[in-house]
Amino acid sequence: MTAPIQASPLAGRRIVLGVTGGIAAYKSIEVLRRLVDLGAHVVPVLTEAALNMVGPTTFTALASERVKTSLWTDTDPIPHTTLGQTADLIVVCPATARIIADYRMGRSADLLSATLIATVAPVVLCPAMHTEMWEHPAVQENLAVLAGRGVSIVPPEEGRLAGGDIGKGRLAAPEAVVATVLDLLSAPGSLAGTRVLVTAGGTREPIDPVRFIGNRSSGKQGYAIAREAHRRGASVTLVSTVDLPAPSGIEVIAVATAAEMEAAVSRVAPRVDVVVMAAAVADFRPVAVADQKIKKGDGVPKIVLEPTVDILAGLGKVKPASQVLIGFAAETEELSRNATAKLQRKNADFIVANDVSAPGVGFGHETNAVTIHGADGSVLQVDLQSKDAIACAVLDAAERRLQR
Ligand code: CTP
Repeated sequence: MTAPIQASPLAGRRIVLGVTGGIAAYKSIEVLRRLVDLGAHVVPVLTEAALNMVGPTTFTALASERVKTSLWTDTDPIPHTTLGQTADLIVVCPATARIIADYRMGRSADLLSATLIATVAPVVLCPAMHTEMWEHPAVQENLAVLAGRGVSIVPPEEGRLAGGDIGKGRLAAPEAVVATVLDLLSAPGSLAGTRVLVTAGGTREPIDPVRFIGNRSSGKQGYAIAREAHRRGASVTLVSTVDLPAPSGIEVIAVATAAEMEAAVSRVAPRVDVVVMAAAVADFRPVAVADQKIKKGDGVPKIVLEPTVDILAGLGKVKPASQVLIGFAAETEELSRNATAKLQRKNADFIVANDVSAPGVGFGHETNAVTIHGADGSVLQVDLQSKDAIACAVLDAAERRLQR
């Protein structure tokens, strides 16, 4: 077996993570962790207001350098120009109306705004504020001017805001922030000109109009693979049972059952270069689906099951020689033996096996740890890390196979 690898698409890249004083400041810790996981060297710069929301110790502990907070306390007499000149990218997360206004005006009011003005690196702003503030013409005009200057804006989402209000203004999900950073920083286009089909989520096999047989799959790993393939320039179709945010440009086909997934996949698969079956497809479904809700008074129902179609095995049977077929194997024991057996049984090029009984691995988690078994006998162990990083390792394997 080869040594464990860390997928590091941001290795050697220097990122300044600016944090301003919004309630969402605590979420920037997750963004920091993910960027470090992807190999970036991250320097956190917190404004004075941010320090009222979050503690500097957490950032220093997780980042690549000590937190910086002021123009005046650093041993470097010109920390803003050092930061601005050496950064490969600056991401401000969250970005309050204040920093947006200062940046638009070129007003150097603190270390972060001075650094923003002192850089020619790409800048990403992730606004987060109350709906009224977000919709204020001054904020919108400032953002439009900054976007016109080439600044990337990761727009906020609709959702619960501070104080319990609901509306637009909630900080974008960490995945969306990191995807924008990856878009701007990593070598693009390694899958340009290829077509990739990814399945995601667990299927739901109905018992009656309100009940189904399902599983714990969240779909996050499949979405991470679809996002990464899209970022590498592939034309991506995502067949999904869940509704998670996907970048525009990815074709999403919503399905629920194994049969619906099979129908969608068999339509698209013949014309793609890479298929990644990340979905957790039910192996069995009820033979009969009740038209009406089954009532308690009717007694304990006997649910008779029948097998579903094995989509991956079906694809393996008709696989064009040039197509790369990748399956997943969620196991709780004998990982390697089960994965190798699945490789052969399903005629796949790779089986990405994970031990879903291990802490932090697989279903529902933000992280995953996998072993990628190749039909050529290769075995690659990828240690516990973000699902984005696992997606990179899976697509690296696909790319190596495509090149052969
Ligand atoms: N899969 C599929 N169709 C099914 C069941 C599984 O395409 N009806 C795919 C999954 O998307 C995954 C791979 O097959 O990529 C392995 O799924 P898994 O459930 O681990 O394997 P099974 O073949 O169902 O074997 P077992 O449940 O016995 O482990």
